[in-house]
Amino acid sequence: MTTEDDGHGATDKTLCVLPWIHLCASIDGVYGRCCVDGAMYHNELYDQKDEPEFTLNDDAIGCSPGSRYAKDNPGRVLGLEEAFNSPNMKRTRLAMLRGERVDACSYCYFREDHGAQSYRQSINRRFQHEFDLDALAARTEEDGTVEEFPYFLDIRFGNTCNLRCVMCTYPVSSSWGAKQRPSWSSAVIDPYRDDEELWRTLRENAHLIRRLYFAGGEPFMQPGHFALLELLVETGNAGNVDVVYNSNLTVSAERAIKSFPHFKSVGIGASCDGVGEVFERIRVGGKWETFLSNVRRLRTEVELWLQVSPQRDNLWDLRNLLEFARTEELDIDLANVVQWPAEMSVANLPEEEKVRGTEELTELIAWCAELGWDKPAAHLTSLRSFMTSLDPLNLVEEST
Ligand SMILES: C[S@@+](CC[C@H](N)C(=O)[O-])C[C@H]1O[C@@H](n2cnc3c(N)ncnc32)[C@H](O)[C@@H]1O
Ligand code: SF4
Repeated sequence: MTTEDDGHGATDKTLCVLPWIHLCASIDGVYGRCCVDGAMYHNELYDQKDEPEFTLNDDAIGCSPGSRYAKDNPGRVLGLEEAFNSPNMKRTRLAMLRGERVDACSYCYFREDHGAQSYRQSINRRFQHEFDLDALAARTEEDGTVEEFPYFLDIRFGNTCNLRCVMCTYPVSSSWGAKQRPSWSSAVIDPYRDDEELWRTLRENAHLIRRLYFAGGEPFMQPGHFALLELLVETGNAGNVDVVYNSNLTVSAERAIKSFPHFKSVGIGASCDGVGEVFERIRVGGKWETFLSNVRRLRTEVELWLQVSPQRDNLWDLRNLLEFARTEELDIDLANVVQWPAEMSVANLPEEEKVRGTEELTELIAWCAELGWDKPAAHLTSLRSFMTSLDPLNLVEEST
């Protein structure tokens, strides 16, 4: 099969490499095309007073046997390999090859339409040398099947987390769950721990895994995350695998650190939404000093950068964050602009604050440009355009 246009014109605007190489599995056991697949999240179910039916969205890829969804969607309970070639995944590949936009990917298209960088764009850039679009198309059968095991996995081994960040929620964090959850649901959710088929599949295909992304919940608190690292070391396959994390780095990572030298590479995006008091105000329950000492410890072991989620509550602290990054000589990534909850988004600031915010960001962009600090300059430029170009009523629903 070939792409619709030779120069990748139409597909350039729609196609994402992830449905060909990757599978995501959410904290509550729903498979996704990626972690911002709009069809994967069912957060509204957790707002119900009485336990609702856990009906999957029509466009969702499917669910794992250990998930709450399994009972109400018996025809859509899938293992990893089946999920990678489920009917919705196959339809997605074919639609992308035709140059069509896919509903489940509206989070990315929305950002692109409003001047922000999308996951689709950054991941396509990241893999541009490894996966040629025509080669992907050639590996796609007429019905959309790709006869391979996903090269890249993002399995969220449950929601256990020690923090309650202001822009996060239940079911993503068990600490949010401890404070605010329906009586019919537990604070901690972990659909994968006892999923024997999952662990058998991971063991059988360990030699085919090349990349892992861990988030959550807090990965350094997830038993399943440690078990997967240990499985790859034990089977002699860790040396093939690049591991990437997002972590709050307010808990000990010592157990994982022991296995890091076995892996091809390890990178940690240390989530940092402010300096000192602002960090503690946004990342509720986290201590700045603990974070700082973990950053300094981990950076000696792995590649580490600061991962910022620009939002209403840290717009005025971005200067401090940038200065902190320079002092510590750390890379900083500001691309993950908070879009949801809508009231946390910079797009919903009152007009006069947007004017001030524009001035502040313009100064910061000029400062970064003077320093030749291109990546933050580009991210701040996207943030400025996202802030000013949005009609707040159009914000799309999202989770992380
Ligand atoms: C959900 S967290 C999970 C991993 C880990 N607990 C952490 O905080 O890094 C993954 C990333 O999503 C970010 N995040 C949390 N809530 C968000 C939201 N509403 N919108 C965009 N990003 C968000 C976090 O700051 C973090 O960098
Ligand atoms: S640390 Fe991560 S998972 Fe935990 S509450 Fe904060 S953003 Fe959510």
